[in-house]
Amino acid sequence: MQQSSDSERPVSWHQQFQQSKALEQALLNHVSDNIDELAYFVYDLNALKSHLHFLQNQDVVKLWYAVKANPLSRIIQTVDQASIQFDVASSGELQQVLNQGVDAKRILNTGPAKSRAQLAEFLAKGVNTFVAESPNQLKWLNELATEFSVKPEVLLRVQLQWPDGEKNPLGGNQVTPFGMSVEAWQKYHVSQFPQLNICGLHIFQWGNMLSNKKMYDLWQQMVEPLVTLSQSIGMTLKVLDLGGGLGIDYHEQGEQLDWQDIIADLAKVKKQANVEELWLELGRYAVANCGYYVTSVVDKKVNFDQQQLVLSAGINHLLRPGITEQPFPVRLLRPSMEVNANFDLHGPLCTSLDKLGCLPLPIDVDVDDRLLFGYVGAYGFTESMPFFLCHQTAAEYVFSGHELILVREAKPAQWYLA
Ligand SMILES: Cc1ncc(COP(=O)(O)O)c(C=O)c1O
Repeated sequence: MQQSSDSERPVSWHQQFQQSKALEQALLNHVSDNIDELAYFVYDLNALKSHLHFLQNQDVVKLWYAVKANPLSRIIQTVDQASIQFDVASSGELQQVLNQGVDAKRILNTGPAKSRAQLAEFLAKGVNTFVAESPNQLKWLNELATEFSVKPEVLLRVQLQWPDGEKNPLGGNQVTPFGMSVEAWQKYHVSQFPQLNICGLHIFQWGNMLSNKKMYDLWQQMVEPLVTLSQSIGMTLKVLDLGGGLGIDYHEQGEQLDWQDIIADLAKVKKQANVEELWLELGRYAVANCGYYVTSVVDKKVNFDQQQLVLSAGINHLLRPGITEQPFPVRLLRPSMEVNANFDLHGPLCTSLDKLGCLPLPIDVDVDDRLLFGYVGAYGFTESMPFFLCHQTAAEYVFSGHELILVREAKPAQWYLA
């Protein structure tokens, strides 16, 4: 498989952007004749392709792409070309992946809200791999598998808890709907579900990990309780799925996971758990870096000594900063030699939630300037709130070869208003 050398690999989103002069030029020159295009996403498929090939250049872990991170057709096609498989969590995601010509046998179904009807739909469409998050899901799958005369591969999703205190690798013990505790699963035995091939465990209860050491400590501490659970319910543990959660340096503090170290650590986990296969479902770590978002400054003012910029769009296109402590990093699209100051970046919605962060920008940033946000390849367009206040939706472009290609045009509110 093709691999770019480590010395060539950009470390941050901005280094990557600077390495693609053709993309920079395309964005600087870009003027849309669509008056509704006030903002757009662009995904650099050249960079994505090379990143995915880099991730695939190992034989320790089987990679699945968590489609929720970015379900755009061209992203799915690029992931497919890298021979990565797909983790889908809804009927909509399933159909979108199938529509790109992906074989249903390369699709895994996760998510806590699998109804009997949804499971039936997935089986009817040929999906054969499921993560069961409850006894009902197991029961329904077993019944449906009999009806469909199939024997799907099933992983049980486990939630672990540790005693409170410093040794707790998660830092807390939040109870979520994602899977169940060891004790809850121990009430069942795989022999109760003869139509299912229950062959693995799935665990994922951390987010945006940026330290190799912390990640490894966490994975490693999970092995013993998981192996014990598998033995107590009569399962031959063949697969361990460690979900996603590999982090992105949204705060630009120079923290990055080293993929080669992850692979070395996973090789140890695989040995320790004695499993045939380790799986990861990557969302942001696969696609965040390939995406940029461009919008413009509508107003600039100083308010209570605070520099404020009001933008054409905010959390209506990029919700994440409004609901997490993680702003997407930003740069001025045009060059500037001025020093930076911190600006509060507000969107157009009538809520103080509509803030994309307080971030450094050159002091000469002004009305009509375009801002470039990074790491928006994941959890951008589809994790937003486009309908509030009836603003225009964002456009989506891909950059492939040397071409900026429109995939989805910006639309006025009239297309969804009834
Ligand atoms: C089951 C599952 N797998 C994988 C992911 C991807 O997570 P990330 O984007 O942090 O890699 C998610 C995200 O919510 C998830 O729910």
